[in-house]
Amino acid sequence: HAQKPFINEALTDFSKEELRYAQAMALEQVKNELGQTYPLIIGGKKIVNERTFTSFNPGQPDQVIGKFSSANSAQTQEAIQSAKTAFETWKRVPATERAGYLFAAAALMRQRRFTMNAWMIYEVGKSWPEADGDTAEAIDFLEFYGREILRLADEQPITHIDSEDNELVYIPLGVAAVIPPWNFPCAIMAGMTSAAFGAGNTVVLKPASTAPTIAYQFIRILEEVGLPAGVVNYITGSGAAIGDTLVDSPDVRFISFTGSREVGLHIYAHAAHTQAGQRWLKRTILEMGGKDAIIVDDTADVEAATASIVSSAFGFQGQKCSAGSRAIILASVYDEVVKRVVEKTRKLTIGDVTQPETYLGAVIDQQAHKKIMEYIEIGKGEGKLVLGGQSHGPGYFIEPTIFIDVDSHARIAQEEIFGPVLTIIKAKDFDDALTIANDTEFGLTGSLYSTDAQHIDRAKEEYHVGNLYFNRKCTGALVGVHPFGGFNMSGTDSKAGGHDYLLLFTQAKAISASK
Ligand code: SER
Repeated sequence: HAQKPFINEALTDFSKEELRYAQAMALEQVKNELGQTYPLIIGGKKIVNERTFTSFNPGQPDQVIGKFSSANSAQTQEAIQSAKTAFETWKRVPATERAGYLFAAAALMRQRRFTMNAWMIYEVGKSWPEADGDTAEAIDFLEFYGREILRLADEQPITHIDSEDNELVYIPLGVAAVIPPWNFPCAIMAGMTSAAFGAGNTVVLKPASTAPTIAYQFIRILEEVGLPAGVVNYITGSGAAIGDTLVDSPDVRFISFTGSREVGLHIYAHAAHTQAGQRWLKRTILEMGGKDAIIVDDTADVEAATASIVSSAFGFQGQKCSAGSRAIILASVYDEVVKRVVEKTRKLTIGDVTQPETYLGAVIDQQAHKKIMEYIEIGKGEGKLVLGGQSHGPGYFIEPTIFIDVDSHARIAQEEIFGPVLTIIKAKDFDDALTIANDTEFGLTGSLYSTDAQHIDRAKEEYHVGNLYFNRKCTGALVGVHPFGGFNMSGTDSKAGGHDYLLLFTQAKAISASK
C-alpha cells in the first residue's frame, strides 16, 4: 500500500506562541459561528424540525453552541431505511475507495485541528490540551482504521490444501446504530463512525445531545470528502425519545455504543430481544464505565505517582471512563502521597477554558452537576473531605474534590461518579491493594506505581483490567499503542485503536472451491 506505517499524530505544543495564537484565532472564529440551527441529515437530505433542543456551553450556560432538531420516531425509521438502501451499493465499494474516505477525512481534520479543538472547548468544556488530544486521537483513528480496512481486504492467513482453493474474506454486517459519548466527542465519535462505515456498513449516527455540534463538524468533513449520501445518516434528539426506535429496529444489524453502564445494559437487553422480521442476532459493541485505580506501593517514585494521580483524577474534570477515580496507597507511604496529591491538586486552575492556562472547566450539564454534588454529600459520610467539595456558578463548576480514609466498599469507592472526585483508600500491603483494585464490578484501566519486579509481575497476572499501566497515568490510551477497552461491567472489551477492532464490524466468509 502507498500508506506510510501508522504513527500517532503529534500533540500541539502550546508553549509556542504561534500555536497559542492559532488556537486563540480559531476560538474567535468559532465564537462567530455559535448559535446556528443544524439539520438532521437523512439520505443526504437536510431536515430542520420545528422542535429543537439546545447545546450550550457548560461553563456559561447562557451561551448557545447550537440548536438541533429533535428527531421523532418516524424520522429515525427513515434514517434506518436510508442506511438500508445505501448499504446495497456501499457494500460493493472496494476497500481502497472506502479507506480513501478515511484518509481524506483525516487530512481535512488535520487542517482544521484548531477549529475542532475550539468547538470542544466551547461545547463540552475541554481545556486546550484535552481538546487537542481529542482531535489528535480522531485523526489517529481515521488513519489507523483506514489501514485496517486495507489489511482486512488483503489475503487472510488460512491453511492451504492441495485439493481445494480456499480463502477467507471479511464482509460488512449491514446497518449500524452508532451511539457515541460526549466526553471524547470528536475522537470516539469519529472512531466509532468511521470503523463502521469504513468496514462497509452504513450508519445511523446519533451523537450525544450535549455534543452534537462537534459531530456535525465531522459530518461536514465527510460530505466534503465526497462520502455518498446515506452512508452516514445524522439524527439528533434525546436517547429517551429515539434511542429505543433505533436499537429495536429489525433492520439494524449491530449497535456500537459508548456511554454509561446503565444505558449500555439497556441496549444489551433490547438488542437481545428478536423483533418480528429480524433475520439476525444483533451484535452489540458496548463500552461503558470504569472505577479505575492507581496503586502506589512503598517502592514507588512518589513524585511521579502523585502527579499521575492528579492528572488521571482531574483531567477533563474526571469525566473519562479511564479516569483514576481511586488511589490505593500502601500504609507506609500513605501520608506522604496524600500530602503531595492535595498540594498538587490545590494548584489546579478552574474556570474559563478558552484561556490556555485553565486546567479544569465545568462539568457537562446540570444533571451531571447534580449527580456529582450528591456523591460529594454521600462521600462526606464515608470518608474525610480534605479538599474541594464546593461548586461555583453560573456554569457547572465543581472544585477538584478529594476524600481520604475511605473504605473500599463505600459507594464513592465503588460507583462511577464521572466528575472531579478522587477517593483515596489505604491498603495494608500489596496483596490488599490488588484485592481492593479488583473489587469493583468494572475493569477498564488501572495503574501501578512500583519499582518492585515481583509486584509488577503479580499485577500483570492479577490486576484485572483491560488497560494496565505501570508507572504511568491511567488515562490517555494512544491509538495503535494501547488498544482500549475493559472487562466485566466496563463493556465488551472492543479494543478500539487495535487490530481486533474492525473485526467487530465485519463477518467472515470462508470460500472453498474444489480443484
Ligand atoms: N481512551 C481514553 C483514555 O484512555 C478514554 O476513552 O483516556
